[in-house]
Amino acid sequence: MSIFRVDLKKIIDDSYDIVVDFNLQDRLVEDIKNGLLGKTKRFAIITDDVVNELYAKPISAKLINAGFNTDIFVFPEGEKSKTRETKALIEDQMLEKGYRRDCAIIAVGGGVVTDLAGFLAGTYGRGVPFINYATTLLAAADASVGGKTAVDTPLATNLIGLFNQPKKVYLDIMTWKTLSNRQIIDGLAETIKHACIADASFFEYLEQNIGRILSLDKEACMHIARENVRIKYEVVMKDELESGLREILNLGHTVGRAIETVSDYKLMHGEAVSIGLVAEVNLAYDLDLINANEKDRVIALLKKTGLPVAIPDYIDREDLVKKLYTDKKVKNGKLRFVLQNGIGSIKEFSENVYAIEVEEDRARKIIMAM
Ligand SMILES: NC(=O)c1ccc[n+]([C@@H]2O[C@H](COP(=O)([O-])OP(=O)(O)OC[C@H]3O[C@@H](n4cnc5c(N)ncnc54)[C@H](O)[C@@H]3O)[C@@H](O)[C@H]2O)c1
Repeated sequence: MSIFRVDLKKIIDDSYDIVVDFNLQDRLVEDIKNGLLGKTKRFAIITDDVVNELYAKPISAKLINAGFNTDIFVFPEGEKSKTRETKALIEDQMLEKGYRRDCAIIAVGGGVVTDLAGFLAGTYGRGVPFINYATTLLAAADASVGGKTAVDTPLATNLIGLFNQPKKVYLDIMTWKTLSNRQIIDGLAETIKHACIADASFFEYLEQNIGRILSLDKEACMHIARENVRIKYEVVMKDELESGLREILNLGHTVGRAIETVSDYKLMHGEAVSIGLVAEVNLAYDLDLINANEKDRVIALLKKTGLPVAIPDYIDREDLVKKLYTDKKVKNGKLRFVLQNGIGSIKEFSENVYAIEVEEDRARKIIMAM
């Protein structure tokens, strides 16, 4: 018998910068000229058909002007495009155009684009580097940072994907100007989630300044962009692969992801998370982890922001309860929830365990009452 040991211990440095500012297109081109991606000369820009006209084409033109070779790969906007099929279509187009391992990917868009492009980058030619240029408040607040990439399946959202860190993230707050009111409000759900999880004073800031944020006051937008990034990367740095602490970023998502799918994506991601936050704050109250005043403040802030706080009538409650079981926190067939411990803190149930088993009937009771 022969036994060979393949020694493959690795020290990996996936560190990267997140730049938060207004108008970052020139900065992106300068960074690439200055070797952000080494000698790479060929860039596949992945975007959707709305962001293409607004931001991807100008970025591509600037890169071409600087002597780089780029093509734009466009898919129809919306969550329904975040699929394995869209990924395969773009991969085939890239292969046809001769993209090989010496290329890099630039995701220009919201969370749908950064999730799909980051996953694609992780598998294309067994992995090519990618950059996120986030153009929605939601992507800036959450999706473009942290390295979770995925596509949806008919069963549920984000079931197939990779942990794959970008080489750099650009959060261009100027792009928020072209978002609709609904999209801005939608992005604020993950912002409120971050405050609920980690920072009571940020929560108070949101209570006092939500009007300024909604009217896109520059200073207020800069503040929330920075706070979102800080709260998220501090968690990701401690637990990149979600073996414990990172689960806290799931607050509101057990019910949120389920209702997003059951609504057939009539609810946007943030709207679904808002309803999830209400369900889960009710659950925390039911379990004596949060008092009535704190619960009411969370619901009031979501309402004041313009986010939904009730389950729409068209949602079948029993379908929703069933869909909870597609959540990745489910263990041994049991539902598990991340729950607030007051405002600005998450309950640690035992060492490094942040989700607790909840009986289906208790979850059903909360859902039926909403
Ligand atoms: N990876 C993560 O950690 C993570 C975290 C939270 C959410 N997500 C994912 O993010 C997605 C939701 O993100 P989203 O709301 O940004 O989705 P999105 O990318 O679909 O963008 C929403 C809409 O805004 C349009 N748009 C984008 N930028 C624009 C701009 N500047 N001006 C005008 N229109 C613009 C898009 O074309 C789209 O119609 C979901 O798929 C969710 O699962 C991922």
